[in-house]
Parts: sequence; structure tokens; C-alpha cells
Amino acid sequence: MENKLWQGRFSKPLDKMADEFNSSIKTDSRMYKQDIIGSMAHAEMLGEKGIISAADSAALVQGLTDILADIEGGKLKIDMTAEDIHTFIEAELTSRLGDIGKKLHTARSRNDQVALDTRLTVTAEIAEIKTLLFELLNTLAEKAAENVDTVMSGYTHLQQAQPITFGHQLMAYAAMFMRDASRLDDCDKRVKISPLGSCALAGTSFEIDRLAVAEKLGFTGVSMNSIDGVSDRDFVIELASDIAIIMMHLSRFAEEIILYSSAEFKYITLDDAFSTGSSIMPQKKNPDIAELVRGKTGRAYGNLFTLLTVMKGLPLAYNKDMQEDKEAIFDSIDTAKLCLANFNAMLATMTVNADNMLKNADKGFINATDVADYLTKKGVPFRTAYKLTGELVAECINKGVTLTALPLDAYKAKSELFEADVYSAIDLKNCAAKRASFGGPAKQSVLQQIAIVKEFIKL
Ligand code: ARG
Repeated sequence: MENKLWQGRFSKPLDKMADEFNSSIKTDSRMYKQDIIGSMAHAEMLGEKGIISAADSAALVQGLTDILADIEGGKLKIDMTAEDIHTFIEAELTSRLGDIGKKLHTARSRNDQVALDTRLTVTAEIAEIKTLLFELLNTLAEKAAENVDTVMSGYTHLQQAQPITFGHQLMAYAAMFMRDASRLDDCDKRVKISPLGSCALAGTSFEIDRLAVAEKLGFTGVSMNSIDGVSDRDFVIELASDIAIIMMHLSRFAEEIILYSSAEFKYITLDDAFSTGSSIMPQKKNPDIAELVRGKTGRAYGNLFTLLTVMKGLPLAYNKDMQEDKEAIFDSIDTAKLCLANFNAMLATMTVNADNMLKNADKGFINATDVADYLTKKGVPFRTAYKLTGELVAECINKGVTLTALPLDAYKAKSELFEADVYSAIDLKNCAAKRASFGGPAKQSVLQQIAIVKEFIKL
């Protein structure tokens, strides 16, 4: 594009290769709406404050409204050779309105403009990511409700540990995604601060009303310092970090889905619509969606490090390095949205193989703690009860039986306190059902957790 905003002092045009290198429109064109809305608020304020005439202000707002409608209606194509979206919109406005168009940039710089546009874009994307998190939480609550009685082994060190239910395990992920949503809310508070009026870095001598512009745009305040206003990209890093955490949670979940859908576990079956086949092995059914989510977590971590590294060592205030922020944060946003949507659909359509979960749970002496608790409740100190139970487990391993199949004589030989009711105390279903402490696997505890999630997503 020949028409640069910064004409005047230059004796020759920018080298073609350098021009392409300098341009960011391929990335920032997606902010066209935010750029226009921000400019409208600015133009209105200029009119209200008498910095430009009311007629000029109205003409600018109308011109911007028309440009927005034309872009959305497909009548106006964004010129991909323009320097950036701000340049494109302003040039278009000026070509439509002549000299009036040239008044829009009064008391403004692209430095505060791009910071504003990015903030407007990020806050809208946060709302979308939150909606996707809520949809996932809803699926989790529904699946958990179906599985409050589905006994399985809980794991530590990926070794069978204690009886839980699948509903309980799903609610653990719900707890993570709830924290993710509140982290986004917290980030959004700092996003909704308007940098406009910081101008290039040193504010302006025009009597602008920064707060009025901020409020028109749904922001809650203005940046305190004009130098910081244009050089701060913390909000982008915060969102990238929040997304990295969301992806980490999704990736852990994906890993379990992959594991649980294997022939060795067979705890769940993924729907054919969310599985893929192999080009050579006809029997294969692969959990590609879960694997891709796990893999794409790497991109989200990479973007976070890109942003931290771009900002590291930048002197105040704006530096062109900061143009790199958008590609990274937009990729994180798009990745998170794609992964959340696909993961949710995969989860909603999977089937749970409760029989296999129970069968497997019966193999690992996961009711050993309950044997020890049985004795402890009869007055044996826990450490002693723990040791006696360990000996019983060793005996079971020698005989190749489970604790439920070990005869009462064997129990009594260790302690006279054992009675026939020990079998019901160590029945896996009862073991899970007895753990009714707040947050535990008992049906009423998990139902309580589900209620908390449902309440949360009503917000
Ligand atoms: N395209 C630029 C960016 O994304 C806009 C700001 C340009 N400001 C400047 N002083 N060159 O950062």
C-alpha cells in the first residue's frame, strides 16, 4: 500500500520486502470490528468535548458505521497489502469523507489504538472461552450424575489406590475447569481498562474525556499512566497463561481418556464419530481427538513463552516488537476454543463401561484401607491396624485371592475383633459409599459437588 499514515518526512517509499515484513494486517484484520467500535467511541467523545464539531463527529460515526456494515456485508474487502487494520480503516474513512476523515486521529496514536483494539478483542474472546468452559462443565455434571454409583479404582502413582466412583473422578476435572473460569474473570478485570488517551506515550494537550470513552466501550476504568497504557501487554500474557492452564487440564484429562479407552482398561468407549482408524491396521480405533488436544497443549505453552520473551527487555514505551503479541495470543485463543469444543463433544458421546471399572477395581486390594479402618473403629490404633492389614494383604497375594474372598478364619487369626460384617465393610460399593466426607466419592457427596457445578454455571 502506497498510502502510509506516516508520509511527509520520507523521500522514498518503503522497500517492498520491508513493507511486507512490517505489515501486520494478516493477523490484525480480525480486529476490524473492535477498531471501528473504538474509533466511534473516540469520535463521539471528540464531538462531546468540542474538540471537533458535532457535525464532524456525527459524520465520522456514520462513516465508521457504514464501513462496518460494508465489511460485514461483504461489500468492502480488507486490503491485505495495508500496513495494519488501523491504517486500512482510517484510509477508507478518509477516502469516503475527505478532510473530515482526517480528523479522527486527533488526540490519538496507533499505540493506544492498538492496545485498545487488542483489549476489546481479548475481552470478547474471554467471554467465548468461558461459555465453552461452562458447556464442558455442564457435560461433566451430566456424566457425573449418570455415574454416581459407578465404582472404580482411584489411582495414585497410576497404581490402584482406593475405591471412588467415575462421577467423583469427573467432578475432579469440573473443579479444575471452575477455577479456570474464575481465572478468566479475574484476568478480564484487568483487560477492561482503557489505554485510549495515552496517545503515543505522553498523553495529549487536548481536553479529552478518557473515562467517557472507556465507559462507552464497557470498560471499568482507564490506565493510570500513559507510558504504561501503551507499553503494557500483561493482559495478553495473563490470558495466554490462563489458556496454558486450561490446556494443561484438558491434556491431563485427554491422557486419561486415551488410557481408559485402551484394551487394557476398557473403562470407556469413544463414539465412532470422535475416533479415527488406521490406514493399515483394520482393527484400529484411535482416540485422535484426545491426542490432538494433548498435543496442542504444546502450542499454548509455546505462545505463552513467545509473549514473555517478546516483552522481556523492552524499554518503555511502545516498541514494534509488540506487534508480535497478536499472532501468539490469537493462536492460543483459537486453540483453546477448538480444543474445548471438540473435547466436550467427545466426552458427551462416550460410553462408560461400568462393569469393567468394577472388575478392575476388585484386583488391587483397594479396600485395604477399609480393613484397617474397620479395626481402628473397634479401638485398634491405626498404625497397628495398618500393619495387620498389610499382613493380610501379603497372605492374599500368596494365596492368590482378594480380601473379599479371604475366609473369616484368616481374619480372626490376625485379630479376634474381626466379625462377619467385615465383608460388607470392605465391599467395594460400600467402601465408596461410606466415604461421605465433603468432597468425597459417596453418592450424596458427589451429588453435592454436581449441585455446586450447576450453580456455578448458572452465573
Ligand atoms: N501494527 C501495530 C501493532 O500491532 C500498530 C501500532 C503501530 N504503532 C507504531 N508506532 N508503529 O503493534
